[in-house]
Formats: sequence, structure tokens, C-alpha cells
Amino acid sequence: MNQVPNFDPADPKFLADPLATYAELRSHRPVQHLPISGGLWLLTRYQDIQPLVTRQDGRMQPEGVDRSRIFGDQQAAAGRIYRNLMVLNDPPRHLRLRSLAQQALTPRAVENLRGRVEQVVDEALDSVADRGEMDAVDDLAFVVPYRVICGMLGIPPDQREALLANTPDFFRIFIPEANDQAGIDACNQACAFFIEYLSKKIEQRQDEPGDDILGGLIRAEAEGKAYERDEIVATALSILAGGFDTTMDMIGAGIYLFANQPEEFEKLRGDPEAAARSAVEEIIRWESPVGVNYRIFPEDLEVGGQRIPAGEPVWMALLSANHDEARFAEPDRLSIARPDNQHLAFGGSRHFCIGQHLARLEGEIVFRRLAERFTGFELVGPTPRRQNFQFRSFESLPVRFETA
Ligand code: HEM
Repeated sequence: MNQVPNFDPADPKFLADPLATYAELRSHRPVQHLPISGGLWLLTRYQDIQPLVTRQDGRMQPEGVDRSRIFGDQQAAAGRIYRNLMVLNDPPRHLRLRSLAQQALTPRAVENLRGRVEQVVDEALDSVADRGEMDAVDDLAFVVPYRVICGMLGIPPDQREALLANTPDFFRIFIPEANDQAGIDACNQACAFFIEYLSKKIEQRQDEPGDDILGGLIRAEAEGKAYERDEIVATALSILAGGFDTTMDMIGAGIYLFANQPEEFEKLRGDPEAAARSAVEEIIRWESPVGVNYRIFPEDLEVGGQRIPAGEPVWMALLSANHDEARFAEPDRLSIARPDNQHLAFGGSRHFCIGQHLARLEGEIVFRRLAERFTGFELVGPTPRRQNFQFRSFESLPVRFETA
């Protein structure tokens, strides 16, 4: 049992092949206590994670501890964002922050964006079609969600390089204890960039807020539904970063998987319109762009024969649950018509992904159009990923393709 070493989220071997490490943990130590940041638990099996992901009483903040202090004094940029991000808040504040953005992301609001998303996808594909090759991250996976989310927020897509440079350091905010001092400094710098950038946009729009998401947030502040400026900056940032990064990962992963399993792309090409939705669901399961969920439970838990004391942080490895052979047949294979695909990639309970309808719509249109316009993909160079156990997006995906 104990031959499997303690999980280390920074281990290069794990980062190079997380599926192999998780498979070993599922079979030998599915519930593991880790001496990281004062002690926490790592769960890797679907049967253990699913009931906890959907439990309503999981909290993000321990009672009586101000985790934002890790980033410095009250004015530290990352602390200001940390305290106001909806995903890091508990009730009742979480619900109020979530409701500031929810209207813009309902299934109906998202369906109204279909034409706009089709246009963005077509423009991106038009610009590469004649070249016969592209970097599928730079030219497609990043561009599509970035343009869509900038349009929804009403901000110009003029910060491509800064966004790509600052987002990974911003994401350090989700598990503050996992950072050393250099990580804390980088996170503060990234947050300072976003605070300055978004505050400027909000200032410029005070007199005429407009109908987009940022306009809605500015009105919410004026009407007293948002209590302070940092709340609307943090909410805009949740939508901006949440809106492009995970979706970028999904699109990149899809191309990577179709290059490796061309027979699945052939199936999609057989009937792109009918098959695109379940293909996207399967790509999301396989890739699980948010690799791990974090919660603290108010009661002792009994998981896999082990007692997890109340108040001890639990990491739920969504990527591992979504590759659990006890739940999914041949889990490491992409199978675009997979039946009963109840994956956990969008989380559950009160923080259930607010952007899931948008992510699904973008995925459906991208993969349908790819199947209509291209005959297949060949990887023609290295495909490095971000060295981050929670958000492990591809950084580059050079591919060659032929048009239909
Ligand atoms: C394939 C794409 C996506 C995946 C896999 C994904 C995954 C997730 C997961 C697992 C959570 C729950 C986190 C938790 O319980 O702690 C979450 C929450 C969230 N997601 Fe997504 N997401 C995706 C796309 C998006 C998009 C497109 C947006 C923005 C438009 C977005 C914005 C958010 C926000 C703001 C939250 C926090 C919700 C809350 O705390 O109530 N996500 N996402």
C-alpha cells in the first residue's frame, strides 16, 4: 500500500504524465494525506469524488483564517482579488457575487451568441486555411474564446500578450499555500496588472455603461448590488480569465486528441452537426481543464475506509476521476460517442461552472467547423504544456492539415 510515494504536484514526472500517476494512486492509495501546506487530502477515485463534488456544504475558506494574508498586507494586489473572487467565497457572499454575472451566461443568453461565435470561428479558420499549417493554440484555441469573451465584456481584444503572460501567475491565487515567495510575488504582479487594466476600462465607462457584462457590473455597483470596486474588478476578471483559459485548453486538447486518434475525427466528419456535442463533452472529460477542485468540509468524512477530519482541506482530482477505469470504459481513449458520459469536469454544487454553456457552445462550433472544413491533423513539432498541476493547457500545438 505504502510503496506509492507521496504525491508531489510539482514533480516533473507527474507533470509530464499525470494520467499515469493518477492511475497508480487510484489503484494503491486513492485517499492520501499529504504534508503540503499544513496537511491536506488528495482524492483520486470517481466514486469518492462525485459525492463530495456535489455536496452543498463544502467551503472554500476555513473558519477564522484569512488566507488572503498569504499575499501580503490588506493592500496586496492578489489579496484584493482573492477576497473578491466568487469562486473563493462562501455563502452568503458567494451568491451575491455570482448573481452579478449570472444573467449574461444563462443557456438562453449564450444561445443568442451562436452567430457571433460562428463568425469568430470562421474568421480564425479563414486566416489559416490556405497555409496548410498552424499553431493550433495561437491561431485557434486562444483566439476564439479570447475574442468571444472580450466581446461579451465589451473590452477590445488588445491585450493578447499581456493576458497570456499574466494568466498563469494569476491562477496561482487558487491555492495560495502552494506558492513559494517567488510565486506570491508573481501572483501579486499579475493581479496588479489586471486591477489596473480593468479599473481603467470601468472608469472609462462610468457615464455610459452599455449592455455588455462590464456595463452590467458597473450598473450593479451604482445600484448598490456590488459593494465595492474590487468586487466588480474581480468578477470581470473571473469571466475574462475563466472565459478564455479553460476553453483554450479544451480546444487545444481536442486537436491534439484528433491528431492522435484520426479515426475519431473521421467519425465526427461523418456527421459533424449531429456528433459535435457529444464529441465536445468527451474532449472536456478527457482533458478536464480544471484538474483539481478544493474544498473544506464542516464534518468528519469517511472516504474509502479513511477518516478525514472536519476542517482539513481536500483536493479532488477531477482529471483523475474522469479517467477512472471503474467508471469509464477505456478512459484514456477519446471516444466521441461515449454513452453515459457523466464527467465531473465542470464541478458541482454551488460553484458549478457558470460558463459551461458558453464553453460547450464554443466547442460545438469549433469542432463542427473543423470537421466540415478539414480532413485531419498531423502534429509536426513538440507540444509543451504549462507546468501546472491544476491548469495544464498546451502552450503550443504545431499541426499540419488538409482542407476538405
Ligand atoms: C471547458 C471549459 C471549462 C471548464 C472545464 C470549467 C471548469 C470549472 C470548474 C470545475 C468550476 C468549479 C470550481 C469549483 O467548484 O471550485 C468552474 C467554475 C467557474 N467557471 Fe468554469 N470552466 C470552463 C469554462 C468557463 C468559462 C467559459 C467561463 C466564463 C465565461 C467560466 C467561468 C467560471 C467561473 C466564474 C466559475 C466560478 C463559479 C462560482 O464560484 O460560482 N468557466 N469552472
